[in-house]
Amino acid sequence: MPELRAQALACTRCEHLVASRQQVVFGVGNEAADILFVGEAPGADEDAQGEPFVGAAGGLLTKMLKAMGLAREEVYITNILKCRPDTPNQRTGNRAPTADEMATCSDWLHRQIDFIQPKVIVALGKVATGGLLEMEDAPITKMRGTWHTYRGIPLMPTFHPAYLLHKETMQNKRAVWEDLLAVMEKTGLPISDKQRGFFLKH
Ligand code: URA
Repeated sequence: MPELRAQALACTRCEHLVASRQQVVFGVGNEAADILFVGEAPGADEDAQGEPFVGAAGGLLTKMLKAMGLAREEVYITNILKCRPDTPNQRTGNRAPTADEMATCSDWLHRQIDFIQPKVIVALGKVATGGLLEMEDAPITKMRGTWHTYRGIPLMPTFHPAYLLHKETMQNKRAVWEDLLAVMEKTGLPISDKQRGFFLKH
């Protein structure tokens, strides 16, 4: 993995992203993790710090992991696109990675998956789900909560934590939590009655 990381950090496949990035955001966590979380692409915070999911969405992901009884160090966290998508005509804001950018970059993810051999992959959001499953417009609301397969590994799509931050309803929180309960079941993590009841109305 250190060798793979070193190669990825020196990647120059996307000229426009090489020109705009501060750093390549390879991934963090347990290199023998049972659960691999895959987001879409680094944002400004991640580009500055070189670590995925360290901004606001990352804070929520860390909380979700805690609710599962896990620390960030116990899972592996990465993105389909390892460089921050450039925004040449904007001074602020993010843009979603294109299908071409994701396809160009996915070789790094494949090699990470081959190395980690996770039991389960969690695709965070519509863009990551579409990028992995090569769907132009992945209907995340329909797809979440059901198992898919990616490179022979069970894949659970769920809402992106940034979406949850914008639409923080009990219903959305429970939906994501049910997806994570399914992941916990599949990977043999213990689940308490209290955990089963999170985000249910009483
Ligand atoms: N959103 C993502 O999809 N990935 C990150 O690393 C941060 C925010």
